[in-house]
Amino acid sequence: MKIVVIGGTGLIGSNVVRRLREAGHEAVAASPGTGVDTLTGEGLEQALAGARVVVDVANSPSFEDRAVLEFFETSGRNLLAAETHAGVEHHLALSVVGTDRLTDSGYFRAKAAQERLIEASRTPYTILRSTQFFEFIGGIIESGADGGTIRLSPALVQPIAADDVSAALADLAVGAPVNGIVEVAGPDRFPLDELARKYLAARADGRQVVADIHARYFGSELDDRSLVPGDGPRLGPTRFLNWLSRPARH
Ligand SMILES: NC(=O)c1ccc[n+]([C@@H]2O[C@H](COP(=O)([O-])OP(=O)(O)OC[C@H]3O[C@@H](n4cnc5c(N)ncnc54)[C@H](OP(=O)(O)O)[C@@H]3O)[C@@H](O)[C@H]2O)c1
Repeated sequence: MKIVVIGGTGLIGSNVVRRLREAGHEAVAASPGTGVDTLTGEGLEQALAGARVVVDVANSPSFEDRAVLEFFETSGRNLLAAETHAGVEHHLALSVVGTDRLTDSGYFRAKAAQERLIEASRTPYTILRSTQFFEFIGGIIESGADGGTIRLSPALVQPIAADDVSAALADLAVGAPVNGIVEVAGPDRFPLDELARKYLAARADGRQVVADIHARYFGSELDDRSLVPGDGPRLGPTRFLNWLSRPARH
């Protein structure tokens, strides 16, 4: 079946496209680099012609509050309208565990806006909310960096390998729409400051990590419930410490 992956050249998208092709599907990687731009609408109608499923794993090039809201709102509207026109039967989008809780964060407000547009559209849908990718931990650390010190919340996180998120998406893409939210997370929980120390130690990075309960995560203070899934999430099998010990990964 034809499946269009919006953001199909990115970290998650390229992995999902590969998995779907290996399973025998016609998976199309759609992104500005391949002539499909959800912000302007360019190339969308042609890309979606004959598609049964759309997987949206695009991300905003800017995380600045206004830019990211504009990205997810405008892209969402353009994409969902094009899907209605093309008769797409399933819209599968990737969001973040805790999106509904982190309302002080511009990035999470934008993801919440994306989710609302999906829920209000006529296309049957599944929203997969994932926890933080292992591959994103370096970015989280830099967001808390202040000279030689890194201030991070000690709140619990349950990160997951991008490869495991991609596997869950490839599986959901060929199933029936849930018309609701599914959560996916890694197998282990860590306080965020401890996770950062393990990551830095594996990279022989000597910077100090300071636990600070008021340190903001992309604009929001955290508690132990903020970033972890509720009951019964899908669990990716890859353990963080095993991933960290693979030299090619970091
Ligand atoms: N990072 C995390 O820990 C985490 C956790 C949970 C959920 N998520 C979600 O995961 C999703 C994907 O993240 P990622 O790390 O795989 O992203 P990524 O590697 O940065 O890739 C982003 C993709 O979006 C495409 N894109 C950018 N602007 C576009 C536009 N105007 N129209 C169409 N496509 C556009 C890019 O295309 P070009 O390459 O052509 O620019 C690229 O293919 C995001 O929605 C994010 O919210 C992330």
